[in-house]
Amino acid sequence: MTANHGKVNRVVLIGAGSVGVSYAFSLINQGITEELAIIDLFADKALGDVWDLNHGKAFAPSPTNVWLGEYQDCKDADIVCICAGANQKPGETRLDLVEKNMKIFKGIVDDVMESGFDGIFLIATNPVDVLTQAVIEFSGFPAHRVVGSGTTLDSSRLRYKLGEYFDISPKAVHAYIVGEHGDTELPLWSRVTIGPVPLQTYLDNHDDYNAEDLDQIFEEVRDAAYHIIEKKGATFYGIAMSLARITEAILRNENIVLTTSSYLQGQYGAEDVCIGVPSIINRSGIREIIEVPMNEEEQEKFAHSVQTLKSIYEPAMK
Ligand code: LAC
Repeated sequence: MTANHGKVNRVVLIGAGSVGVSYAFSLINQGITEELAIIDLFADKALGDVWDLNHGKAFAPSPTNVWLGEYQDCKDADIVCICAGANQKPGETRLDLVEKNMKIFKGIVDDVMESGFDGIFLIATNPVDVLTQAVIEFSGFPAHRVVGSGTTLDSSRLRYKLGEYFDISPKAVHAYIVGEHGDTELPLWSRVTIGPVPLQTYLDNHDDYNAEDLDQIFEEVRDAAYHIIEKKGATFYGIAMSLARITEAILRNENIVLTTSSYLQGQYGAEDVCIGVPSIINRSGIREIIEVPMNEEEQEKFAHSVQTLKSIYEPAMK
């Protein structure tokens, strides 16, 4: 368990682009942390964000002390969340970003480690699975203290879409997407429940829904970022809310299950790879990776996702 230094919670955000500031906005609006330091190469722009965010403080559920940070602030941080790096341009896949962002990450993690940071890394930048694994390597931290956003957002997108389809709150839809946060991800249909009812039972009991629609729903979820990028050039609110949810789960020691990018050491028959899998998240980071039984088709797709990530990570680290 990572100490919280017997004091208030501190998050340091590195990278105040659209994702980073949306994350800051979510944290403040939900009162998730008492302290938030924001670090960015463009310090002036980040200072503007700090001022702007502070101006809403009177309306927040609890006080968050926000300031323009320096790497030294990481020393006493509980979480360092990295949102820095290049993002996808129209037509680019997440994996296309690896070279640029790997270099940026090496520099950032070195600076964070120099501060004496001893908390939990939360990683959002794409390709998130590959960069989460790179942070384990660069920091030398035990793998459970490096958490990637993984398929947390994808699972939430699926819950939202299924909720729309069945006209049921996404909170009552339990659905998990696993694998790469990207083109090779897969839904675990056999594990989906509507309230307590397995999806298949729910479909059998209702004539107006059918399995083909579900395939289309998954495709929309998998390709959601491409569609959003076509419209507005980037995605940020959904991922920011996912990061805020992970942050809350860590700081409040929730032991909740989220499909974070977690480092596999034999689970799912895979080794030495960070990938989205249901994980129990608490103050220690990733307390445990949950192994969900998969059918043969799911196993094959998951193995393909693992191979895809390895084929990107291994050459990039050489
Ligand atoms: C998305 C980005 C975070 O899926 O990859 O919106």
